[in-house]
Amino acid sequence: MKTKILVTGGTGYIGSHTVVELQSAGYEVVIVDNLSNSNADVVDGIEKISGIRPSFYEVDCNDKPGLAKVLTENAGIKGIIHFAASKAVGESVQKPLMYYRNNLVTLINLLELMPEHGVEGLVFSSSCTVYGQPDILPVTEDAPVKPAMSPYGNTKQINEEIIKDTIHSGAPFKSIILRYFNPIGAHPSGIIGELPNGVPQNLIPYLTQTAIGIRKELSVFGNDYDTPDGSCIRDYINVVDLAKAHVIAMDRMLGNKSEEKVEIFNLGTGRGVTVLELIEAFEKGTGVKVPHKIVGRREGDIEKVWANPEHANKVLGWTAKESVEDTLVTAWNWQLKLRERGIQ
Ligand code: NAD
Ligand code: WQD
Repeated sequence: MKTKILVTGGTGYIGSHTVVELQSAGYEVVIVDNLSNSNADVVDGIEKISGIRPSFYEVDCNDKPGLAKVLTENAGIKGIIHFAASKAVGESVQKPLMYYRNNLVTLINLLELMPEHGVEGLVFSSSCTVYGQPDILPVTEDAPVKPAMSPYGNTKQINEEIIKDTIHSGAPFKSIILRYFNPIGAHPSGIIGELPNGVPQNLIPYLTQTAIGIRKELSVFGNDYDTPDGSCIRDYINVVDLAKAHVIAMDRMLGNKSEEKVEIFNLGTGRGVTVLELIEAFEKGTGVKVPHKIVGRREGDIEKVWANPEHANKVLGWTAKESVEDTLVTAWNWQLKLRERGIQ
């Protein structure tokens, strides 16, 4: 019998890629998503790629009885991967209570339900945002957590504390907290990828929408930072590489491969790339020009951050494999597929 995993936010960007990887590793997947930032047809896409249709429930993770029903109907779920959250930094400043409710209550509901349903492990989606501007680069997991720059960032810090406090109080399950750097790209099939809502706030969707002509010009936010070309540095991680780390984390928890009840891992490539380098890599990889101009700094931007991924490399045996150049080609193919499908 296959081991059953509940994936919240499983029709979203990172969740959908992770469902595919879980299925190909032999797990049975149950998805819960309220479709607030994704579409139900992603389930068809997952099936097209893997040949297996995951169970799908349109349920809001704020709805505790609704979640309990899913856990009861799918008795024997051993692990949960909790992706469901609101993630737009700017929107979180405008609507803090919506963010605190959606990102905190959903986690609390799951943590309360896990013991009642015999769930043994939780993988949680955290973010490099918890480091703010690190003092030492590349940043390791023991770097101090800095005061959050937004309600969104704050929810990730509080989420991590909630998990640690719950487990330290003796809760009968384990957790692995994964701090993602900047996930980019799409599945190589072009069947699933990132579907931004409205005008993209993040670099890659804005860039690919500019390259295809939806946007006139990409604004590069600042070229006066203390970096080699003056633009900000990030660690861009391929979404399929990222998805695979979740499978390894789940194997580790359910296989009792660690004595630790809570573990934290950075998921990044270890390579910092500037915005201008990224544009150049995109143009080189795809042969498509990206009209862009330098504008002023974006408020609240971190100057430079990239991961030290050695802990994940050594302990999980996971390494980011795909180059940023190849990953950008997958992002471009995805944008072309969206056009073909008449979506964007
Ligand atoms: P996404 O918006 O594509 O996916 C999140 C999914 O959760 C969506 O399908 C949405 O409909 C669903 N959802 C939201 N609230 C829900 C609720 N209350 N109940 C049920 N479903 C709900 O985002 P993503 O990029 O795939 O991010 C997944 C996780 O990773 C999030 O927790 C996010 O904060 C975290 N993360 C993302 C990034 C990034 O840059 N994409 C970086 C670091 C961390
Ligand atoms: C990347 C770089 C911008 C858009 C955000 C969240 C963070 C995490 C990942 C979830 C920066 C520059 C961007 C544009 C630009 N998410 N840029 N022109 O800011 O690293 O992080 O997503 O946890 O919490 O804050 O990602 O994609 O917005 O920006 O020049 O139109 O691209 O200044 O240097 P960021 P991003």
